[in-house]
Amino acid sequence: MTQRVWVTREIPGESLDRLRSACEVDVWPEATPPSAETLREKVVGCAGLLTMLSDAITGELMDVAGEQLKVVSNYAVGFNNIDVDAAKSRGISVGNTPDVLTDATADTAVALLFAASRHVVPAAKQVQAGEWKTWEPTGWLGVEPGGKTLGIIGMGRIGKATAERLVRGWGMKLLYTSRRDQSDVDNELGGQRVDLDTLLSQSDFVSVHVALNEQTRNLLDAEAIGRMPSHAVLVNTARGEIIDQDALVDALERRAIFAAGLDVTTPEPLPGDHPLVKSPHCVILPHIGSATDQSRHAMAEIAVDNVLAGLSGKPLRCSVT
Ligand code: DGY
Repeated sequence: MTQRVWVTREIPGESLDRLRSACEVDVWPEATPPSAETLREKVVGCAGLLTMLSDAITGELMDVAGEQLKVVSNYAVGFNNIDVDAAKSRGISVGNTPDVLTDATADTAVALLFAASRHVVPAAKQVQAGEWKTWEPTGWLGVEPGGKTLGIIGMGRIGKATAERLVRGWGMKLLYTSRRDQSDVDNELGGQRVDLDTLLSQSDFVSVHVALNEQTRNLLDAEAIGRMPSHAVLVNTARGEIIDQDALVDALERRAIFAAGLDVTTPEPLPGDHPLVKSPHCVILPHIGSATDQSRHAMAEIAVDNVLAGLSGKPLRCSVT
């Protein structure tokens, strides 16, 4: 019998055609995610799910799908939207799309760092609004990363790629947190592994690259943010829940830190009247870290490979289980 796969959003490229030639494929056609109710309806009887980071794939949903469910393939490197333990205990494989989005996401972190440091968004808005009056000797003064200290929270693939750009390109000194010893980073980039408190109090620029899990949720709470110097810039391209947003609002309002650049928030999108959206000291992007043609096409290939492997009971190309 033909196996059924539910794809929760259109993905770029031709890779879905490969899936269509191997099984029955149903793709959610809307630009916004399916509701929880729609997910529950659509997963019933599926052997594979190709999901987005905005879909909550719980153990209960896996049970609703049925015993024939073999694989959940997330179209993202992060997989905090999937209950991996529940999948494991049900013998369901879970895949993700690492590596191919590393450079694009590191580029986004660097772009946010500069945008936040140099008031790029409010300054450009002033010009667009026809409100720019003159060159100002004291206007729009920012902070420069050259030769300063960069703190990378989470020295995984994307953390390292971000560090490489800023250490090699801007001569930044590198502090980082990591669960394991990373002598390659120390040798190649002159990095120093430190604890989080040291990183926050000694870094001029901090970029967040840890995965979201119960240990990292609200990792940057009021106390942690309070350790940062008042000229510091905070960048997050990982997951919004890693930063306590109320604490960040408070720190920006009190000018306890200089600025923030966020590609991720809680929720996504933030309401238009949220204080972070309104803050002139915060740049927010709509979670576009991996949004290049190259990365999204490569992610599609891996996600489809993962589904096809899972359907035929083979090891996934990129497995998290
Ligand atoms: C990911 O892959 O986890 C990014 O957040 C989105 O591409």
